[in-house]
Amino acid sequence: MKKYTRIFQGTAFSSKSPKEIQILKEHLFCINANGMIERIVAPEDADYQPLLDTYQGGENFHRLADGQYFLPGFVDLHVHAPQWAQAGTALDIPLYDWLNTYTFPIESKFSDLNFAKNVYQDVVSTLLANGTTTALYFATVHKEASLLLAEICAEKGQRGLVGKVVMDHLEQTPDYYRDADTQTALADTEEFILAVKELAMRTKQGVYPVVTPRFIPSCTDDALKGLGELAAKHDTYVQSHCSESDWEHRYVQNRFNKNDAFALHDFGLLRDKSVMAHCNFLDDYDAELFAETGTAVCHCPISNAYFANSVIPIAHLHAKGVEIGLGSDISGGFSPSLFDNARQAVISSRMLEDGVNTALPAEERGVPNSRITINEAFYFATAGGGESVSLPIGRIAENYAWDVQIIDTTIETAKLPLYNANEDLQDIFQKIMYLVRPENIREVWVQGEKVHSRM
Ligand code: GUN
Ligand code: FE
Repeated sequence: MKKYTRIFQGTAFSSKSPKEIQILKEHLFCINANGMIERIVAPEDADYQPLLDTYQGGENFHRLADGQYFLPGFVDLHVHAPQWAQAGTALDIPLYDWLNTYTFPIESKFSDLNFAKNVYQDVVSTLLANGTTTALYFATVHKEASLLLAEICAEKGQRGLVGKVVMDHLEQTPDYYRDADTQTALADTEEFILAVKELAMRTKQGVYPVVTPRFIPSCTDDALKGLGELAAKHDTYVQSHCSESDWEHRYVQNRFNKNDAFALHDFGLLRDKSVMAHCNFLDDYDAELFAETGTAVCHCPISNAYFANSVIPIAHLHAKGVEIGLGSDISGGFSPSLFDNARQAVISSRMLEDGVNTALPAEERGVPNSRITINEAFYFATAGGGESVSLPIGRIAENYAWDVQIIDTTIETAKLPLYNANEDLQDIFQKIMYLVRPENIREVWVQGEKVHSRM
């Protein structure tokens, strides 16, 4: 009798700590029927050879070829699924104008379920092909189309955390794109939560409803309060945008005489299961409130370069004990790849540390101790994301889900520069993080199931 559903053999990289990478060289990864990593066996362990003797050659035994490596699947903590339809465009104007000129018009089209289906199928497949095994999605205000997104995640095998967006503020939302009224927004949200919980019962990898006030400006006080109550009643995730840009941060200060963090907290929206996108302008009190409530920051480095008027002090927030994950923020960020976002997170942090204004002397130019390493960016994209949503994902470790990407460094059109047969594995890891393109992502697995493969 074979105990395991599948066994994989090869070399894996996973975070040991935010700054350190653990290398599991030529280990066996034993996966059970629930798609969890039940055991990891090192070559020096006594049952390594007996396991090989039992499983090798069988259909459920998978050995990586030379030049291939396992990485944990990425956890993208902030994706606007409908905005995939405009990714790469319209990045030339400030946030407020961008929302009103480009984004609300495109999102309003998702009342059409056929249009929604096309875009949502593509965005889920594209994210999987880029190594994203779990995604925290904003859909639109439309209940049916939002549920469709959750169904598409379920069907394609991605772990989706999905929110029907709430926007009911008459002055801050256009006539053609808002909830009918506050009561309808809350009733639709509750129906959506129940429908996704129903869907979750038949979804191996999990699908989760998320209470989703778009951001404070688009919501009335009554909606924010009602959403906080719904999150508590149904014990759901919460997501929103928080202190993202100068305009948005000031709008909230003018309306509530406090920062976003405390305003959201007053409405019951900062919970252990809350993830707030951007958070560039958090002050130390806000950061402490995040740490106390277990609220995570989703760092969206590419998007921030266009819309956040700043570089987030991510190293500082992390040092304050705030949970941090990484987000693409499609389409505020143009790229569906968390590899690209991890690279930008490092680059932005270096620019924050050194400063950018050459008219200033070096010692006045930057913010000391701001840099993060590629290991930390990888941690945010994987283990940090998993911790942010309190799920056993983002690490290749026992009792974690088998959510992995198989990286092939030898693809003819995207070969990594590896010339030394004994190249240090830490260096190979860094080359992977900086140079991998979608072509190199050979296979993607979620909860023990293959969900993407590239021939
Ligand atoms: N704030 C409110 N809505 C949005 C959005 O769609 N994208 C970004 N980046 N910020 C927002
Ligand atoms: Fe966003």
